[in-house]
Amino acid sequence: MNGGGAELAARVMAWQRRQGRHDLPWQGTRDPYRVWLSEIMLQQTQVTTVLAYYPRFLARFPDVERLAAASEDEVLGLWSGLGYYRRARHLHRCARDVVAHHGGRFPASAAELARLPGIGRSTAAAIAAFCFGERAAILDGNVKRVLTRALGFGHDLALARHEQALWVQAEALLPRTDLRRAMPVYTQGLMDLGASVCHRRRPDCPRCPLHDLCVAAAAGQPERYPVKRRRVARQRLELWLLLARDAQGRVWLQQRPEHGIWARLFCLPLFDDRATLLASLPARVHGQAVTEPPRRHVLTHRDLDLHPVSVRLRATDLRHADGRWFGADEWPALGLPAPVRRLLAAPAAAPQAPRGRLGEVRPSVQK
Ligand code: ADE
Ligand code: SF4
Repeated sequence: MNGGGAELAARVMAWQRRQGRHDLPWQGTRDPYRVWLSEIMLQQTQVTTVLAYYPRFLARFPDVERLAAASEDEVLGLWSGLGYYRRARHLHRCARDVVAHHGGRFPASAAELARLPGIGRSTAAAIAAFCFGERAAILDGNVKRVLTRALGFGHDLALARHEQALWVQAEALLPRTDLRRAMPVYTQGLMDLGASVCHRRRPDCPRCPLHDLCVAAAAGQPERYPVKRRRVARQRLELWLLLARDAQGRVWLQQRPEHGIWARLFCLPLFDDRATLLASLPARVHGQAVTEPPRRHVLTHRDLDLHPVSVRLRATDLRHADGRWFGADEWPALGLPAPVRRLLAAPAAAPQAPRGRLGEVRPSVQK
């Protein structure tokens, strides 16, 4: 980068003060509980979505004690729709940790915050910078993009030693004075630059405060950064979902076990193949089971091909300790995997006339 690190920090802060967002509900506070909650929600979810959930969640759980005292099912229910339920489970565990081991107060340093469940190095740094003005570097996906481009950092971030080198550079670039005021502004500025100017595709370099310092922009190839080569082939998994309704239109849902896919969420019964699914049903309905077009669901490490099979059953046909029939007034409040929620919300399963073309595959991000 041309111009030195102090210049980068100064530009980011000036830009944030003039152009950045100042009106988000988690910005007007240095309360670690509120900041932590917003950072966890924002980890893989867009600001616009979080804006709808954050106040609702805070209204129900105004402080860490209230969250710690809640049941996991209630937390997952309120989290419904934000996706990535591991976050919600970690969030709940973290609240219980803070109450049990820290007297209900979040620890006041990035190093200690990073030891709590669900708080990685970057999130810990964000909380410490926003709440305590700690000189700690964030490095989430957006910030990696901004910094690798500005610095012309072309090493493969799939290798730990290169990622580590980028952390070192990120720390060197942090503001050095007036930290209590500077760190929140700088941290928010980097996040906002990554989100609103330095896009993954077609970054808006002419509008960027780093334009004349930026190595990637000078070379005319910002999209070459960051470099990250995939090391593992994605796995694909076929899953068969029993979408059973009873005469009242209720659906059968079971809570997933503690471990494995969609742990502890409510879900349609899952099977490895169609034959096993049918074998779980009374013989009299085998001829009426309708296999709907598959849907693809993209998880972090694998692709799921979901095959829903719709069937109408008597309420007494299914028995499972962890399952029961849920009416349309009940299931929306449950913690459900996003593709299952979409399936249930689709117009009454229409078993005779499945929506979409046969074999249609719908890509979606994990929820
Ligand atoms: N993404 C992660 N943290 C954020 C924040 N504090 N503001 C906006 N987007 C974010
Ligand atoms: Fe990103 Fe362009 Fe700004 Fe460089 S100049 S940081 S590539 S938006």
